[in-house]
Parts: sequence; C-alpha cells; structure tokens
Amino acid sequence: MRKKKLIAGNWKMNGSLAANDALLRAVLAGAGLPGCDVAVAVPAPYLAQAQALLAGSPVALAAQDVSQHAAGAFTGEVGAAMLQDFGVRYCLVGHSERRQYHGETDAAVAAKAQRALAAGITPVVCVGETLAERDAGQTAAVVRRQLAAVVHVVGHCVSEIVVAYEPVWAIGTGQTATPAQAQEVHAVLRAQLQAASAQPAGVRIVYGGSMNAANAAELLAQPDIDGGLIGGASLKAPDFLRIIAAAA
Ligand code: G3H
Repeated sequence: MRKKKLIAGNWKMNGSLAANDALLRAVLAGAGLPGCDVAVAVPAPYLAQAQALLAGSPVALAAQDVSQHAAGAFTGEVGAAMLQDFGVRYCLVGHSERRQYHGETDAAVAAKAQRALAAGITPVVCVGETLAERDAGQTAAVVRRQLAAVVHVVGHCVSEIVVAYEPVWAIGTGQTATPAQAQEVHAVLRAQLQAASAQPAGVRIVYGGSMNAANAAELLAQPDIDGGLIGGASLKAPDFLRIIAAAA
C-alpha cells in the first residue's frame, strides 16, 4: 500500500506570538483536508499556542528537540513527558544544527529517539553528511552510522520512527540535493531499515535541505522519498501550502 507522505515544517528559532498566529491560520485555511500528513515543529515556548490553534485540525504539532533525560536537574532541557502534555505528535531528534552547535552525539540522538518513543511521540531522526564527507565519498557510511546508533537503541520500535535525510550542505543554502542524489541516499537508508525492521515498509524517509515550492514535486516523485522536512519555506504559508499540495 502507498504510504501517505509527511510534510513537516521546522520553524527553527523563528516566530513570535503574532507571527505564529498569522502563519498557522493561513496554513490551516489553505491546507483544507491535505492529501498527506502535515506537521509543524515550533519553538518550545510556543507549543501551547500552537496546540490551541491546531486543535481538531489535520495539522499535527511537532517539537524540535527533546531531552535524553526523563526529568530532573537538567536546566533548560524539555522532557518527552512535557511534550506529551502539549499533544506533541512528532519530535525532531539529531537535527544537524543540534549535532553541530550543541555537540549532540549519535548516542545522545539515539537516547532522545528512545525517550520520544516511550512517550508515544514519533521521533523524526535526522541524518546527513557534511560537504567534506560527501566529497570524501563517505556519504553512505555517515548516514548508515547515524541511523545504526538509533536502530541499536530502539530495537524493534524502529518501525515507528521517521527518518529525515538532510545533507548538511543543502540546509538553508538554496543548494538542494538533486532528486537523483537524494534518492540514492534514501535507497541506502531504505536498505538499512529493511535489514533492521520486521515492518520496514511503514517507515517514512523524508528529505530536507532547501526543499521549496519549485523543487518539491520532483523530489517527492522519487520512489524512496516519502515527504519533506522544510525549514525556510515553511515560514511562508503560500510556499508551505504548495509543498503540501505537491505531496498529495
Ligand atoms: O529542518 C529543516 C532543514 O534543516 C531544512 O532547512 O529548508 O531551510 O534548508 P531549509
């Protein structure tokens, strides 16, 4: 059976009460009943606002990160149970900006994925190579290593995750991976999931990295690209809506 695609917006550290209100209302008005799954990953302080606006709508609430710890003396961290309190459905883990600027290791990312799963939240596990790694021919090895760390920890629950392939060199640069480049890596990840999971067919592998209204359809037409993780273009309702339409 054909999987429903997932289009998830990642607002990163952008927004305000007023801007979020306008953006979410515009997305809800334009999306109608989308032919794909849709989510928005909002900054943690705005979870309550987004939860209220999205209530009863087909747009799911997502978080951008979760603590690898359950609770306790971890100043600044947000726990999975807290996200659960706000009806969070998906949570990004291991975004390259977290790995790069906050030193998140493969092991920490795996622990975060496990915490999310235990709280009934679908982790969107982000993997991807830097330009130097691509140029050195290490792309497949890097993404396999990043995914293997998660598979090792979550075990049979791997069938419940979403994987996001985000080449670091394509994030926020306007330099999208070509559909062929993205498909090649998605196929690598698909094969790895097939080896690791009893139900690999259900695992969605989405692409992120300068996906926009103009290039979405071609990327989403690839056999192993099951959706998109959208940064910049998710902040503009018309662009995000065109990507949603391309995934239907
Ligand atoms: O999480 C989203 C990705 O980092 C992609 O961001 O669409 O701005 O390149 P971008």
